[in-house]
Amino acid sequence: MKIGIVGGTGDIGEGIAMRLSPNHDVVIGSREEDKAESSCNACIGVMSGLGIRCRLSGHSNQEAIDRSDIVILAIPFRHLAPTMSSLSGFEGKIVVSPINPMEKKEFFIYTPPAEGSAALLVKKMLPEGTRVCSAFNTVAANKWKAFSEALDLAVPVCGDDATAKSAVMQLVGSIPGVKPYDAGPLAVSSMVECLTPLMLNIARYNKMKDVGIQFR
Ligand SMILES: NC(=O)c1ccc[n+]([C@@H]2O[C@H](COP(=O)([O-])OP(=O)(O)OC[C@H]3O[C@@H](n4cnc5c(N)ncnc54)[C@H](OP(=O)(O)O)[C@@H]3O)[C@@H](O)[C@H]2O)c1
Repeated sequence: MKIGIVGGTGDIGEGIAMRLSPNHDVVIGSREEDKAESSCNACIGVMSGLGIRCRLSGHSNQEAIDRSDIVILAIPFRHLAPTMSSLSGFEGKIVVSPINPMEKKEFFIYTPPAEGSAALLVKKMLPEGTRVCSAFNTVAANKWKAFSEALDLAVPVCGDDATAKSAVMQLVGSIPGVKPYDAGPLAVSSMVECLTPLMLNIARYNKMKDVGIQFR
């Protein structure tokens, strides 16, 4: 599978890129090609220091889409609309949203758009027939980057197209220590997206680090 990460230079983008790149061709995308190349070189440096071979490259966000089968939108919710309107070529791809719309006020709150969730908004913004899934929403970037720890993670995956969802679940499951769970159709994404502000509130009010979810 060829994976393109729009906004791949960010926290979650780099983390996922490093975890996927031993088994997949991964393109880190950016608005600035130089930034993508630096991010890619930094990730390769970390991986080679650990003796792990990876297949990573850095390009523009558009190249990341054009070169991939699965596109992960690793950008903050507030930049989603302008980013999507500046990019094209999503037809025939599987598009994955890890995006959690939320704000920090007195506590963290889930702030979904009128469509009901970021994932449903992504679907609305894309050409009809583009297959959209949500995944990677509930795992903090520092977990993906913590190579000294063995992972034991649960990742809910939502989507309306069975083939696309199965491909995304296989992608998630290709990371050792990570178990994908079929969470249902894309309409369920709101329930997944709101778990992150909940976990951040639990971490804050209970003075905990690394709050995560498991399904048992
Ligand atoms: N961080 C986490 O632990 C975590 C966990 C689960 C899910 N998520 C979700 O994953 C998404 C990315 O989170 P993140 O923490 O990785 O975000 P981030 O580091 O703040 O930003 C990711 C990337 O977005 C791009 N970006 C910044 N400003 C932009 C703009 N004005 N227009 C277009 N692109 C812009 C940047 O890439 P370039 O400058 O290279 O273009 C940046 O590297 C969010 O929606 C978040 O809810 C995050």
